[in-house]
Amino acid sequence: MIRSQVIGLGSYLPDNVVTNADIAKRGVDTSDEWIQERTGIRERRIVRDGETTSHLAVEAAREALKDAAIDAGELDLIVVATTTPDETFPATATTVQARLGMHRGAAFDVQAVCSGFIYGLSVADNFIKAGQARTVLLIGAETMSRLLDWTDRTTCVLFGDGAGAMVLQAHDGEGTNADRGVLNTKLFSDGRLHDLLYVDGGPSSTRTTGHLRMQGKEVFRHAVTNICAAIEASAFEAGLTVADIDWFVPHQANQRILDGTARKLGIDPKKVISTVAVHGNTSSASVPLALHQAVKDGRIKPGDLVLLEAMGGGFTWGAGLVRW
Ligand code: ACO
Repeated sequence: MIRSQVIGLGSYLPDNVVTNADIAKRGVDTSDEWIQERTGIRERRIVRDGETTSHLAVEAAREALKDAAIDAGELDLIVVATTTPDETFPATATTVQARLGMHRGAAFDVQAVCSGFIYGLSVADNFIKAGQARTVLLIGAETMSRLLDWTDRTTCVLFGDGAGAMVLQAHDGEGTNADRGVLNTKLFSDGRLHDLLYVDGGPSSTRTTGHLRMQGKEVFRHAVTNICAAIEASAFEAGLTVADIDWFVPHQANQRILDGTARKLGIDPKKVISTVAVHGNTSSASVPLALHQAVKDGRIKPGDLVLLEAMGGGFTWGAGLVRW
């Protein structure tokens, strides 16, 4: 059986650190105490003028390609998960493709907001399993700061910018849970929940980019329920239980969502990778940023069972189980 193995990781954050106190100083009626207590966020990175999603994506991609010890020319496919593309078209993935010097294969974007990386993982895994690609570069990259209404304190304190990248490659497996690589992905969506989290603009509606709008309490409630369901579905399909999983790498939206999910499923909080304090919510970049951190610092080791999960606008949600 063909398995998609992770052969390289990379990440990139803009150098501009913005603390909670910095946001309060800019005239937003908020405080470090309120933000930390409700979200766990201390600081986030924000792009400077002229810095775009593709810039962040290319930097993360270069590091992942180096980690995988391959050239961009060996890639068959580039998938960029983003909700903040450089332009309405072409896809940011094709801009990344050109800047990496890859002139063959295909490149396209996946739009599933904060679940984008999990959706992209599923796309990449299925291309590999179907034999349509051998080596795939998957990137989650966002400049969420460009979508924020900086006069809306209920949303502008939550998000940050960044990118994470992963190189996946086809390798033979036995078809058991002991195989290295992606064991499964589970995707879900429910378009009826649009109004709880959306951007109030777009080319075919307002001809503007628009701003992020959210009903925070409702999102919170759905997040814990949906994420728990996705984790359980992924473990069940693999014939495992939640207790068999070594590391949980969740979408980094809010520390209280991470804690609530761990509590509901009886997960030891020490097994949950959290970077929300220093990254904020970087949407589709948050899972690969957190994953790379935990691999770099030696927590995630070869052979470990790693569960990636996310939920975001749409609503979309999902999980992916990977044997490291
Ligand atoms: N600073 C200070 N006060 C604030 C701020 C702020 N930044 N934002 C809101 N408040 C005030 C409100 O105005 C309200 O004041 P009031 O009581 O006088 O009306 C009070 O704080 C409480 O507001 P709530 O909305 O009830 O606060 P809550 O405890 O629900 O926390 C939060 C809000 C942090 C947004 C929370 O609901 C949440 O995290 N929701 C999840 C949203 C999320 O993570 N979305 C990301 C995208 S989806 C995803 O990634 C899963």
